Amino acid sequence: MSLAIIILAAGKGTRMKSAKPKVMHTLAGKPLLQHVIDTAKQLNPANLAVVCGNGGDEVVPYVQKQGINTVMQLEQKGTGHAVEQAKASFANSKQVLVLYGDVPMISTETLQELIDCGEQNSLKVLTAVLDDPTGYGRIVRDHDDNMLCITEEKDADDETRLINEINTGIMCIPTSWLREALSQLDNNNAQGEYYLTDLIAKAVAQGIEINSVTCDDEMEVAGVNNRVQLAEQESYYQQKRATELMMAGVTFRDPARVDIRGELTAGQDVTIDINVIFEGVNSIADNVDIGANCIIINSVIHEGAEILPNSIIENAEVGTDCSVGPYARLRPGTKLSAKAKVGNFVEIKNANIGLGSKINHLSYIGDTEMGADVNIGAGTITCNYDGANKHRTVIGDRVFVGSDTQLVAPVTVEDGATIGAGSTIRKTAPADALTLTKSEQRTVRGWQRPVKK
Ligand code: UD1
Ligand code: CA
Repeated sequence: MSLAIIILAAGKGTRMKSAKPKVMHTLAGKPLLQHVIDTAKQLNPANLAVVCGNGGDEVVPYVQKQGINTVMQLEQKGTGHAVEQAKASFANSKQVLVLYGDVPMISTETLQELIDCGEQNSLKVLTAVLDDPTGYGRIVRDHDDNMLCITEEKDADDETRLINEINTGIMCIPTSWLREALSQLDNNNAQGEYYLTDLIAKAVAQGIEINSVTCDDEMEVAGVNNRVQLAEQESYYQQKRATELMMAGVTFRDPARVDIRGELTAGQDVTIDINVIFEGVNSIADNVDIGANCIIINSVIHEGAEILPNSIIENAEVGTDCSVGPYARLRPGTKLSAKAKVGNFVEIKNANIGLGSKINHLSYIGDTEMGADVNIGAGTITCNYDGANKHRTVIGDRVFVGSDTQLVAPVTVEDGATIGAGSTIRKTAPADALTLTKSEQRTVRGWQRPVKK
């Protein structure tokens, strides 16, 4: 039973008051349209096409680079017209599922339920019952509850407007009938548009069976028309994710103050304080503690690690029982082995930090290979960049680097070496020896401070 899916995304989105096409506005870090595409893909359609129009110069390449077909609807003459533009893309399917690019929270489960309801060659409509149905097309039924038609608000009389069962816009239509029916639509209505919703009355007249599924979750079928609704959908989404994670064993100090933009897998007994942002694909093992105001991007955090407040971790791996922050920044390519410690105002980039090594204060470690049990003093800098190229610093095991030291790469500090505070190391510092570069302390007696002229 082959299924084609058409996503309508040609509308203007005037109420967003934006130069950006509406469907490209982001929810949980991802364009509205992408949410719908991802959900559609879960249904394994034989064909998937997106109808583009307004903002097509941005939307079309965005969709096509995912290997998904686009159809241009140059003039927006209504939802029926939009589906008709896409008819080549569903020619070989049995059913066509119509989705909206601005209804991002629709779930695979609800769509599957719609697809599975009734005979394959029936027309299936997803409806919802709303306290306030203003703006939506109303589902008109007879006394036996059979659907008769959908009437758009602008075409409805006062009595029809009292109906609170609405058309979500999502329909599943038998292809063989759809092609013919689309060609029979007219635009004799308040908006002068070709309404897809007119298919219902046509189906009734032609004896096509109609089925409907009512979605209980209003937010799932809510459209985004302005930034207030976008914000509502965002918090709905975040609350849902937080709930899933709490059910799986994560404690949020306040589940209303977390942002998950992307995929987050978390183990048990993870504690997440307020205002933490997760972006991309993150994985957090059991017993991890994350302090307030951290931003964690595409990273892996192993068991028992503690991330203290205001730290930023990006494309990095934090080992078992590590401690990071407060105010630490782990940049891409950072890998901390177990029990490593990175303290406040420390930046690390493209570096491996060995087992139990400590960089506790105010340091920059970049392009570095560091062994185990190293202690890096406050204010140590790896000078990795010569103005043209980056060079590596190699630090062995059990090294002790005194405070305010510069390691000018490429350079090696061998196992067990000690570097005196304030040194500028340009050559290999040999194993198990003390290397100093500042002259010995001396005292000048009778020295006069300069005075103002
Ligand atoms: C439509 C339905 C209405 C339903 C509501 C649910 C029709 C006639 N009306 O109304 O019954 O309650 O959705 O939200 O179908 N689009 C195009 N090309 C067009 C017109 C629209 O691609 O020519 C796309 C829009 O980008 C949007 C979707 O279709 O994603 C719905 O269009 P919109 O104008 O918002 O429809 P409504 O008037 O809200
Ligand atoms: Ca409209």
